[in-house]
Amino acid sequence: MQFIKKKYLKMYIKELPAYEGKEVTLRGWVANRRDSKGLVFINLRDGSGVCQCIAEAGKISENDFEQAGKLSLESAIELTGTVVKDERQIGGYEVHVSKLTVIQLAEEFPIAKKEHGIEFLMDNRHLWLRSQRQWAILRIRNTIIYSIHQFFQKEGFVQMDAPVFTGNACEGTTNLFETDFYGSPAYLSQSGQLYGEAMAMAFGKIYTFGPTFRAEKSKTRRHLSEFWMIEPEMAFYDIHQNMDLIEDFLHYVIRQVLDNCQNELKLIERDTSVLESSLKKFPRLTYDEAVAIIKGEKDVNGQNSIRSLEKELAEVEAKITELEAEIAEREARLAEPGMKKGEINFNQNKIATMKNELKDYEESRRNIPQWIESAKNFQYGNDLGGSDETVITRLFDVPVMVYDWPHEVKAFYLKRNPDNPRFARGVDVLAPEGYGEIVGGGERETNEQMLREKIIEHQLPMQDFEWYLDLRRYGSVPHAGFGLGLERLVTWLCKLKHVRESIPFPRMYGRLLP
Ligand code: 4AD
Ligand code: MG
Repeated sequence: MQFIKKKYLKMYIKELPAYEGKEVTLRGWVANRRDSKGLVFINLRDGSGVCQCIAEAGKISENDFEQAGKLSLESAIELTGTVVKDERQIGGYEVHVSKLTVIQLAEEFPIAKKEHGIEFLMDNRHLWLRSQRQWAILRIRNTIIYSIHQFFQKEGFVQMDAPVFTGNACEGTTNLFETDFYGSPAYLSQSGQLYGEAMAMAFGKIYTFGPTFRAEKSKTRRHLSEFWMIEPEMAFYDIHQNMDLIEDFLHYVIRQVLDNCQNELKLIERDTSVLESSLKKFPRLTYDEAVAIIKGEKDVNGQNSIRSLEKELAEVEAKITELEAEIAEREARLAEPGMKKGEINFNQNKIATMKNELKDYEESRRNIPQWIESAKNFQYGNDLGGSDETVITRLFDVPVMVYDWPHEVKAFYLKRNPDNPRFARGVDVLAPEGYGEIVGGGERETNEQMLREKIIEHQLPMQDFEWYLDLRRYGSVPHAGFGLGLERLVTWLCKLKHVRESIPFPRMYGRLLP
């Protein structure tokens, strides 16, 4: 008896199906309230889910009913009631309330139902997290994190953390965050890789999972100043085995998200067909092949990069004309007298939705010509930019791996292709649907002398890398690894417009609060 009571107190909305016909006590926040004659409908959320709770006059005390009618958005409450099956409800169940206690009556909640601008929402990120869409995205993030650990642990990798304070740059010196370490300069880690390599020589296969910092002084939809990176490093792996692992790893994570986040994916209206198609083999392209595709010299499944963009631009322009006409027509009708209140509301909502859609199309109208320009003018030998990644990945319904890059554009630690030393054995994984790079990795240089030359070429302070060069002096072996940007993966899997929604509290250029 005692045990059951304790369980009731701890119960969550997610567990309601097991309690059909029983009395339960739930605690949470008012996500919505609606009154109708003698009834108050409360949408209660408790972090695990949302459920409709109905307070009916006469079935609860007068005082409780009165309190129910006064509940403001986000008030904290505890309620007791009976679980009733109702297919029409979000979770398939509702609760008929017998008792209600107000824990705190909330002040007027700043985030209302109406459309808010993104800066306002970001300023209120600490409250915005409660909205259903943000809740769903961050639960998907949690599933991704869990499945990453599951994958590596079941494959025999050891999780090892790299330091956050570092004395040397790993990914170039342009985007380092410098701090003061007892009077000497130190940098916040840009990558745990160099330490990962040392740990791989001790443990065979390791992965790090840690915060990563890059001073990216530009506002793009892909860049954060603080993000989380997963960096496996494997002794005795070459670039091809590295690519095999990346593919197995991403397949596993995508499968877990599809299997465990159906509700969340539905809530955010993610079309999952591309996630399903991403469970097949990832095409492996050399840099040369990727460049040919970007420049429109080589087609993908009968699709040409430049021509398909031109076609889409024409479609976007047609859509804009159509939307503008419909908005104008509805606005004209609203201006006429005699429209019923319900009809006015309907039309106003419709116009707001269409204006949002229009914004997206207008953005495409601005972007597409730029993508076409930069694709046509791509200089062979350069690194791929954000727009080049967009151009190539829009042609695929599966992530693609691009390997063997001109060595000048990649990091100092990459091994050269022994058959063609112009190329470094790096690999980038580009997510489809225009998302671009989510993984960067490669096979590491094993030769001490080659590394020394690269360190000089990159103008890095040799003395800070002596410990790293030790790894090439004591049992140097072929090895490889990669780094996955967690937020980039969340952004793609949830098909977000911007990486800022993929992390609870984003840190990026111009944003340190909340
Ligand atoms: O390609 P990157 O720079 O590779 C490395 O740091 C290697 N040391 C990894 C390794 O081989 N162990 O970064 C890896 C990934 C990118 O593919 C991207 O997903 C993510 O980290 N990333 C960022 N994510 C958000 N904001 C930024 N500013 C990012 N910079 C990189
Ligand atoms: Mg990279």
